[in-house]
Amino acid sequence: MEKKLKDQVAIVTGASSGIGAGVAKKLAEAGATVIVNHPVPSTQEAADAVVAEIRADGGQGISYQCDVSKEEEVIRMFADLARQFGTVDILVNNAGLQRDSPFNEMTLEQWNFVLGVNLTGQFLCAREAIREFLKRGPVPQRSSALGKIICMSSVHEVIPWAGHANYAASKGGIMLLMKSVAQEFAPKKIRVNSICPGAIQTPINRQAWDTPEALQSLLTLIPYQRIGQPEDIGKAAVWLASDDSDYITGASIFVDGGMTLYPGFSTNG
Ligand code: BGC
Repeated sequence: MEKKLKDQVAIVTGASSGIGAGVAKKLAEAGATVIVNHPVPSTQEAADAVVAEIRADGGQGISYQCDVSKEEEVIRMFADLARQFGTVDILVNNAGLQRDSPFNEMTLEQWNFVLGVNLTGQFLCAREAIREFLKRGPVPQRSSALGKIICMSSVHEVIPWAGHANYAASKGGIMLLMKSVAQEFAPKKIRVNSICPGAIQTPINRQAWDTPEALQSLLTLIPYQRIGQPEDIGKAAVWLASDDSDYITGASIFVDGGMTLYPGFSTNG
């Protein structure tokens, strides 16, 4: 495989499981040195297992614990990584979680927890990444861009989601955070884009696929008739991080098997 991300350093937040782990492995396969970020001591083992897989495949990476919702931890992570690896070229703002509740029963804690990780976490990491890109300056032999940021959004940046108002609000917020930052830093050659996954088979949505009945019902929402896999998102992330997508910034790329195509209307509404 051609090493399109050779000599580049990539941080993937929330990479100890699910989509983040899939993205970390694909970026490493494309030649990047990958920082497998994870939030708390209890996720250390899972993050180390992702790093072990990367190394067994001939790639390079380390795990790094940092809660992306905490400003001082994020600042420390970027400073440590710049010291250890020289710089950062790619940020995949992936860390995200759900705390679902009927809206009238949603606690402020559930609201703040989801917004804190999913939206504030993306703000804090993107800000530190941009500071690092500007400080480092261009390295044309590594990439045409000064830096690349990929925000993990969701089909729920456009599909309303009853019972998940905190999560949908965080993803709607990511859309305009991403586009505003993309607009602000395009003249500096920093590219900022989002991937909007549909239903990807990971622990976050286990109840939607772990019985045949649940999976059958999920497939009525997916015209392409299969659940997504973390590699589907990983491949899109490699493309968005590489110079193959050099003219793309401010885009929300839907990787969803057609979930956003209003499948309910496929039989005449
Ligand atoms: C959510 C999943 C859900 C998918 C499609 C994702 O953003 O995290 O739980 O299955 O959207 O609805």
